[in-house]
Amino acid sequence: MRTKTEARKLSHIKISLKRHVESSKSAGFDDVFIVHRALPEIDKNEIETSTNLFNHKLNAPIIIGSMTGGTPESRRINAVLAEAAERLGLGIGVGSQRAAVEDRNLVYTYHVVREKAPSTLVFANIGCSQLVKGNAVEIVQTAIDMIDADALYIHLNPLQESVQHEGETSFQRVLAKIGEVVRAVKVPVVVKETGAGISSEVAKKLADIGISGIDVSGAGGTSWAGVEYYRARQISDRLRARLGETFWEWGIPTVASLIEVAQSTTVTVIASGGVRTGLDIAKSLALGASASSFALPLIRPALLGTREVEKFLKTTIEELKTAMFLTGAKTIQDLKMVPTVVTGPTREWLSQRGFDTSMYATRLSF
Ligand SMILES: Cc1cc2nc3c(=O)[nH]c(=O)nc-3n(C[C@H](O)[C@H](O)[C@H](O)COP(=O)(O)O)c2cc1C
Repeated sequence: MRTKTEARKLSHIKISLKRHVESSKSAGFDDVFIVHRALPEIDKNEIETSTNLFNHKLNAPIIIGSMTGGTPESRRINAVLAEAAERLGLGIGVGSQRAAVEDRNLVYTYHVVREKAPSTLVFANIGCSQLVKGNAVEIVQTAIDMIDADALYIHLNPLQESVQHEGETSFQRVLAKIGEVVRAVKVPVVVKETGAGISSEVAKKLADIGISGIDVSGAGGTSWAGVEYYRARQISDRLRARLGETFWEWGIPTVASLIEVAQSTTVTVIASGGVRTGLDIAKSLALGASASSFALPLIRPALLGTREVEKFLKTTIEELKTAMFLTGAKTIQDLKMVPTVVTGPTREWLSQRGFDTSMYATRLSF
């Protein structure tokens, strides 16, 4: 018999595979241009994409997004993703570990990530609604120890909880609970959204309590209102289906969120939510991110096996390298300094919110 949490996790994967669950609005990468350099003056073969993230060397600034665990099927997906992460030297997150915190028999579905990725950067994952219900420090320590994690993701998902049939919408004292966790655990704590973005106001509050990083997970990629819309329809919950439809596009688009967070804090910023190519990663880094992450595009390759996941990721890395070549950036550090122009609705958003984007356009490349 599957538990309710297991059944829900499985249906999230199935819906993400079979239905169109992405936002129809842009994450904002179309509004960003890295200025082309017709005289790169470097050899493309000598470009170095390696970087350091939370004291771990990665061969490219990429994290396989937090997605799954808690069912036998997701053990296999986690195994495949972790094998690829280890072979390519990339970071990886597991899905919410709530299922295994509640039922120790499910630990193996997450632990497989550490087995298959013994040396690379691995993130544990727990939702903020779990923290307010129980002993927050004990819960996260269980999650970290379960996979010997190098860092912890705490996810914020008020939109999903609002639309989800069994959603838990008590979000009081979340900030204080995250603060308790930051003070108690030894690994870096990174707070992530789940597709609706993080504003500068929220980022400042999180930075003040000492978190190490923010993964913006903005709007423009997977819509959790969309995923829960389909679940609500399956169980004839008309109200939740209606909420899912109404809030499908809700959120701060990824690029706007990235710039808000990067300009208002000094924490490490990870860009995710609708990141789909190595060029999107290059744009994210040019605008202040230290790494990028994607989730949805990896599900299908993960079901086909490690080779397919590696093929997808190698293509992405080649796209990143090409963007670096075309801007004369030999290293990730160089890429962070290339002149970049922000146009269209993203620029409009940022100017209304009081952020300056001209500084990216006029900086002098190394
Ligand atoms: C099938 C699926 C399951 C997910 N489960 C989790 C989760 O358990 N914990 C979490 O923090 N984020 C979860 N996410 C959110 C992703 O980590 C990411 O923030 C979001 O999907 C935006 O990225 P994308 O547009 O590349 O999919 C999940 C995403 C997908 C597609």
